[in-house]
Amino acid sequence: MTFFLLPISLGRSVAHLNHYKNIIFVFGLAACVDNKEGVSTQKCSAERDCEKKKKKMEIGFLGLGIMGKAMALNLLHSGFKVTVWNRTLSKCDEFVEHGASIGETPAAVVKKCKYTIAMLSDPAAALSVVFDKDGVLEQISKGKGYIDMSTVDADTSAKISEAIVSKGGQFLEAPVSGSKKPAEDGQLIILAAGDEALYKESLPMFDVLGKKSFFLGKVGNGARMKLVVNMIMGSMMNAFSEGLTLASKSGLDPHTLLDVLDLGAIANPMFKMKGPSMIKNNYSPAFPLKHQQKDMRLALALGDEHALSMPIAAASNEAFKKARSMGLGDLDFSAVYETLKDLEH
Ligand SMILES: NC(=O)c1ccc[n+]([C@@H]2O[C@H](COP(=O)([O-])OP(=O)(O)OC[C@H]3O[C@@H](n4cnc5c(N)ncnc54)[C@H](OP(=O)(O)O)[C@@H]3O)[C@@H](O)[C@H]2O)c1
Repeated sequence: MTFFLLPISLGRSVAHLNHYKNIIFVFGLAACVDNKEGVSTQKCSAERDCEKKKKKMEIGFLGLGIMGKAMALNLLHSGFKVTVWNRTLSKCDEFVEHGASIGETPAAVVKKCKYTIAMLSDPAAALSVVFDKDGVLEQISKGKGYIDMSTVDADTSAKISEAIVSKGGQFLEAPVSGSKKPAEDGQLIILAAGDEALYKESLPMFDVLGKKSFFLGKVGNGARMKLVVNMIMGSMMNAFSEGLTLASKSGLDPHTLLDVLDLGAIANPMFKMKGPSMIKNNYSPAFPLKHQQKDMRLALALGDEHALSMPIAAASNEAFKKARSMGLGDLDFSAVYETLKDLEH
């Protein structure tokens, strides 16, 4: 076991170098998979044996948007056998070069794979892929696991869970914190809840996709945690945008503001990463604004359930809605900054 723990902690210290992490991970998987299957660790101590085991793990992946693309590629590059599906099927083609198979429908993917991951835009998409014709529900059965990593509300997650479980399948919600770059680097934070056995079986995949995973208990808790995190993030982005605008209007250099912020107690990676591109009006999407507004809306609905007044989140939601009305929904969520630039909008 020492042999297992040592390389994993080394892997964690080599942040941003997912390639090396995946090589190191090969050794870690030996222990994870062997414990699950009750096979002795020694039998799988050779890298070759572990690669064989990974190649036997058939993983389906539904949804190849900004996040899903990066995540599916990481699974492929670390040796898993992956079958992909996307609503716009042509987006699957480039994955074939990386060793993926294509499933024609969500049902076809679930039929083929023991585990299926979904990374879809919103509750409507998450429900449609499960319940519509040729959907997940048509093929889910005992011995198969469905892991929804999309950001949705707890009710949506519960509906999906009930349907999957009623067909004998296992369900885990596992939304992620972290954006395009952490997804590419395998550095996401995974907020899982639901079937704990499926969570444990999913750890070899989560280890490739993220830097840390949490198991938060019953279905809904992962969704709620994710919404709280994104409510805070959306509010911070609005305060940051107002600060940048106020600095400029006051004749201050916004770059100097970034330097000042970075040295103090409210320094954070988001300001550091987004600030320079916002000043250049560059909103190339890492996290689409329409999804951030969806998360604010769902977080406010969660607040409604608890009669919790959230004036800052409510004002932030209005700013994101205004940005959407200006046609900025497909840009990065930092484009909310644009709503402050011209009061005529
Ligand atoms: N980007 C981030 O930084 C980030 C970070 C954490 C969590 N998230 C969450 O992760 C999820 C995916 O985000 P993303 O940034 O990857 O979004 P995205 O780039 O907009 O991709 C959305 C995916 O959902 C699919 N989709 C949309 N509507 C659908 C429908 N009705 N039926 C089937 N598929 C549908 C899209 O298919 P098409 O290609 O056919 O449109 C695409 O594959 C969202 O819930 C988001 O809130 C995003």
